[in-house]
Amino acid sequence: MSALPEHVRRNRAVWDDRAREYVAAGEESWSAATPRWGIWGVPESQLGILPEDLAGKDAIELGCGTAYVSAWLARRGARVVGIDNSQAQLATARRLQQQHGLHFPLLHGNAENVPYPDESFDFAISEYGACLWADPYRWIPEAARLLRPGGQLVFLTNSFLLMLCLPPEEGIPAANRLLRPAFGVHRVEWPADPGVEFHLSHGEWIRLLRQSGFDVEELLEVRPGGDATTRYPFVTLEWARMWPCEEVWKACKRA
Ligand SMILES: C[S@@+](CC[C@H](N)C(=O)[O-])C[C@H]1O[C@@H](n2cnc3c(N)ncnc32)[C@H](O)[C@@H]1O
Repeated sequence: MSALPEHVRRNRAVWDDRAREYVAAGEESWSAATPRWGIWGVPESQLGILPEDLAGKDAIELGCGTAYVSAWLARRGARVVGIDNSQAQLATARRLQQQHGLHFPLLHGNAENVPYPDESFDFAISEYGACLWADPYRWIPEAARLLRPGGQLVFLTNSFLLMLCLPPEEGIPAANRLLRPAFGVHRVEWPADPGVEFHLSHGEWIRLLRQSGFDVEELLEVRPGGDATTRYPFVTLEWARMWPCEEVWKACKRA
């Protein structure tokens, strides 16, 4: 197996360390009767992230963490596989599989280089997984390789606007003004965080998706309800009610 890229090695250590902080949220989401998305838990009925008919479809979650999204897909009848870079996150996912009696393959690996043949899947999804922590110039072409023609890719991540408004200090919420240039954003490291994130402008996402063989179907701008809560300190409800702090990309692999 080829050596892991530096950002993947770093993020592996970060997520093995951080996994315990994600256990309770994983347990709650595995038990949820219906999907709730992102940092505000916006209901699926409001966002419409999932395709209508997943029954019998081959699906993969790229950066599945505790694999609750995979569980939601499996309950809708998909044959799902989750891949994640952190053994510790997957340990929680495996325990929750046992607890809920719902089993599907969980792979320890890098979503930029997935050990499945070309055109193995009909649907690929990432919620703050590969779409935030893997290099888009690697994982988007890989998702295109994995999907069958007509297959759909959906991912939910921080909005680009939020990125531009986030101060570098940890725990300080997004400002009501732009704090950094929009041009050239790609690899992002925060002073107090050992992890490596990736963010692209909308123009760059569209260019990359199209170059990789996708047609962009939709860009959903997530707006939480007025009574929504989050455990994350980097954005206030007031901010998120005025500007999208999360975005959902939907793309279809060209036939
Ligand atoms: C925030 S969790 C996402 C899972 C879940 N949807 C959530 O929001 O808790 C981020 C996950 O991405 C995984 N990850 C980071 N880089 C990855 C990569 N290159 N390949 C696969 N998984 C990766 C991490 O190990 C971590 O479990």
